[in-house]
Amino acid sequence: MVRWRRLIGLAAAALTAVTVGSFTLAAPASAAPEGAVTPLVVGGTRAAQGEFPFMVRLSMGCGGSLYSPRLVLTAAHCVGSTGTNTSITATLGVVDLQSSSRIQVRSNYVYRAPGYNGNGKDWALIRLATPVTGLATLPIATTTAYDSGTFTIAGWGAAREGGAQQRYLLKATVPFVDDASCDASYGGDVIVNEEICAGYASGGTDTCQGDSGGPMFRRDASNAWIQVGITSWGNGCARPNYPGVYTQVSTFATAIASAAASLGG
Ligand code: ARG
Repeated sequence: MVRWRRLIGLAAAALTAVTVGSFTLAAPASAAPEGAVTPLVVGGTRAAQGEFPFMVRLSMGCGGSLYSPRLVLTAAHCVGSTGTNTSITATLGVVDLQSSSRIQVRSNYVYRAPGYNGNGKDWALIRLATPVTGLATLPIATTTAYDSGTFTIAGWGAAREGGAQQRYLLKATVPFVDDASCDASYGGDVIVNEEICAGYASGGTDTCQGDSGGPMFRRDASNAWIQVGITSWGNGCARPNYPGVYTQVSTFATAIASAAASLGG
């Protein structure tokens, strides 16, 4: 498996409108056949308004999660280098990106994971110019206790490989895939201590282009949502035996928390 797969991202595509690999990112989806079940993330369904209040859509074409009223956790490959950045608009509080009740806030700073070079360490924090207080935040996993089981994925990315970005938030559930089998699927390209995989061996359900940066999450022992992953990469979307690869949040929890503190919380 080639390293360039990590570079496949809507973020870059949205800025440059290029064709990457064998398919054009953000190309319009062809119409579903009459009576077909609409494929929604890939293989998901629409989220209800308020179901995942911490979900964020970012203007470069990525997802994110509300870490604190002022901070959005996303993927490093969705952002540029660390520093002042007022170019990103975050949309929050709605499943429908066109809703008149959406909250839109500009960024004022980006913090990209130190040492990020396109392999692993795929996390970043975006500081919002004004705090968003009315929405529940998503706590991150600080131990590996929740790095297994069934995960929820969500985003406004493509609903099929090569498909269009979505207006309405989609969700799905995917099972954990162990490090050894995920790494074997990708020919040893998975950084197993920094990445966590999820998906069905048969494919069909996955995140896809434009979901990057969004959270993968599950219920904790108190039945509260906890973030275990950040959508990062995969070979295509929802292909059999190619699980989605997510940043392993527990590995970076301490670094994320100290970066957050340095950004003012
Ligand atoms: N890199 C993609 C993005 O920027 C996410 C790809 C996720 N792919 C997958 N098969 N799970 O949106």
